[in-house]
Amino acid sequence: MSIDSRKVVVVGCGFVGSSSAFALMQSKLFSEMVLIDADHDRAEGEAMDISHGMAFASPMKIYAGTYDDITDAAVIVITAGANQKPDETRLDLIRKNSAIMKSIIGEIKKRPFEGILLIVSNPVDILTYIALKESGYPANRVIGSGTVLDTGRFRYELGEHLGVDSRSIHAFIIGEHGDSELAAWSEARVGGMPINDFCELRGHYDHEASMEKIFNSVKNSAYEIIARKHATYYGIAMAVCRICAAIVRNEQSILPVSSLMTGEYGLENVVLSIPAVVDENGIETVVPIELNEKELSELQQSATVLKKVIAEFYPD
Ligand SMILES: NC(=O)c1ccc[n+]([C@@H]2O[C@H](COP(=O)([O-])OP(=O)(O)OC[C@H]3O[C@@H](n4cnc5c(N)ncnc54)[C@H](O)[C@@H]3O)[C@@H](O)[C@H]2O)c1
Repeated sequence: MSIDSRKVVVVGCGFVGSSSAFALMQSKLFSEMVLIDADHDRAEGEAMDISHGMAFASPMKIYAGTYDDITDAAVIVITAGANQKPDETRLDLIRKNSAIMKSIIGEIKKRPFEGILLIVSNPVDILTYIALKESGYPANRVIGSGTVLDTGRFRYELGEHLGVDSRSIHAFIIGEHGDSELAAWSEARVGGMPINDFCELRGHYDHEASMEKIFNSVKNSAYEIIARKHATYYGIAMAVCRICAAIVRNEQSILPVSSLMTGEYGLENVVLSIPAVVDENGIETVVPIELNEKELSELQQSATVLKKVIAEFYPD
């Protein structure tokens, strides 16, 4: 079965899945979108509602389907599973969502699917590792949305602080998509300029305090949003669209998706986010940006946190 680069599947049609489907419809990247949910009525309702926007976007086929519809898809986006409740960490979700992920991968594996798996459900790094192990697919085809959202939040906050278009900022949040993530400050650039130099150009000199404030705001965004509206979904929907564009348009974009580490920074057998070139084959290559000593040690600590959880599922 050949891959249809204009076809996407979204598994899980809750807040995140339906928002992603809505953003994907508007993106015009695809001409066919299949929605799958354990609650088929929900998938049907979302397909109907999103289809009614089509007259204002561009024609495509959107329908509630089954796993028999996945075989020729270019990308399967998995957003199924419970979301964080107030005060719950992403890692707390593991027990509920690992079983859901295993059952979904079991269904996918029964079919000859050759496209890319994009995992979004949390804890995304652990679930991407589980998807990789359970599917047996090569590592380039199993990607987590990782810190693409956190990096978007980071660029937004920096843009506000510096009075500059966030798209002119090259700066990454890396590591776990969660509490142990870190900002790769030493490699951050604004319009090609080292970030501290740009800050001074804008009259900001208290680097340490600003860095701490901005990073904490990024790291705690999800908790702050969940405390107010019980879920986060628009930002991640845009991140899903961005990753899908890099894949199906074969863009070779550099995005901090989560992927299997194979020796980078001395890390192995763990999935976390480091910038990577993303193209039609998924991960083309990981880009091990230079980190200072403190950042390297924080990244290794983040990997240790994730490995501890992975060891509960795969003891050896
Ligand atoms: N990676 C990120 O940056 C990011 C951002 C926000 C949310 N999330 C995660 O996305 C996930 C979904 O969040 P949400 O707010 O949409 O939750 P939600 O409860 O609104 O939706 C979950 C959906 O999954 C469906 N589902 C459950 N089991 C299923 C199965 N076996 N097969 C198919 N569908 C199934 C449910 O019926 C429901 O419609 C959560 O794990 C959340 O933490 C990730």
